[in-house]
Amino acid sequence: TGIKDFYKDDFHVGTILSTGALLKNDTKTLSLVAREFNAITAENCMKWEPIRPNDKEWDWTAADKFVEFGEQNKMYIVGHNLVWHSQCPKEVFQNETGGVISKEGLTKKMQDHIATKAGRYKGRLQAWDVVNEAVEDDGSWRKSPWYNIMGEDFIAKAFHFAHEVDPKAHLIYNDYNTETPVKRDFIVNMVKNFKKKGVPIQGVGMQEHLSIDGPGVEEIDKTLTMLKEIGVRAHITELDIDVLPSVWNLPTAEVSTRFDYTPARDPYTKGLPKEIEEKLAKRYEDIFKVYLKHRDNIDRVTFWGTTDAESWLNGFPIRGRTNYPLLFDREYKPKAAYFRLLDLKK
Ligand code: G3I
Repeated sequence: TGIKDFYKDDFHVGTILSTGALLKNDTKTLSLVAREFNAITAENCMKWEPIRPNDKEWDWTAADKFVEFGEQNKMYIVGHNLVWHSQCPKEVFQNETGGVISKEGLTKKMQDHIATKAGRYKGRLQAWDVVNEAVEDDGSWRKSPWYNIMGEDFIAKAFHFAHEVDPKAHLIYNDYNTETPVKRDFIVNMVKNFKKKGVPIQGVGMQEHLSIDGPGVEEIDKTLTMLKEIGVRAHITELDIDVLPSVWNLPTAEVSTRFDYTPARDPYTKGLPKEIEEKLAKRYEDIFKVYLKHRDNIDRVTFWGTTDAESWLNGFPIRGRTNYPLLFDREYKPKAAYFRLLDLKK
């Protein structure tokens, strides 16, 4: 048994699979994932750049293995993602002569990309993150090339294209900082409008890249309540909890080098002190209490990583930090937070 079994009457409990683990057939990671989780998301291997580095080539190696692993273990399989501004080659937004592509040209490319990628796995994935991160923290449209070239319509278009290809897949809009009130209001409004206009959207992904100090659980509670009110399912899509001191207040230039760090900004290189380990367990417990309160409208809670060693937070926003955001430590052993989440269900 694993954590998935403790929550089997509530929601799926998921994690990601890295391209490395899939390609190297890293059995230590894969067996831990199979034991503990019943949902998986592709960390990188289905994104535009890795799967389709240029117009002519597709590289399905890791993505095929990802889907096969999910099927073998009878998991809830999530494709991540169809449309995102990040990890998308700049050539996507160019025409044959290297200029900015037309709206029609980009719409065609989007449709073709979705048809090929979602088409290959039709009927085998339970859900797709259709559009990722189209809204800014200040509650405005992100001025990505998708938005700049296609206008705000690009989001609805992506959902229609995905639905045409794989009508049974659950289609999700996925974003971070969904507890920030102006951003939350904007997303909720957007989704409400989609529903009114018949855009095929079934879920909103709350990424939940949280910090040990915030946001408060009452904000998480509020977002979940609002999603239920507008009639979409909630997916916790990328949960992790950053335990390190924030560096966002540093001058932008310093942070953007992403190399500069001092012991003060990377304080736990010799292991996580007991009191922080305990604080992390308590934070996970508080958050899961809210998820359980909303379990009737939550399809899954997916962690963005299994062991601390593989977390993207070791390299963000400054490279080379030692972070401890997940349920399993660098020796693949469950942490205090893991046992606390089991205790909640005993
Ligand atoms: O695979 C290439 C390799 O060929 C190259 O030599 C190397 C040089 O930098 O980069 C490798 O790619 C890296 C990739 O991870 C695979 O390890 C990229 O640089 C790196 O940017 C990429 O980071 C990923 C990030 O998304 C990209 O924005 C993280 O692993 C992944 O965890 C993270 O996940 C995102 C979600 O998709 C969306 N929500 C936020 C979340 C965290 O940023």
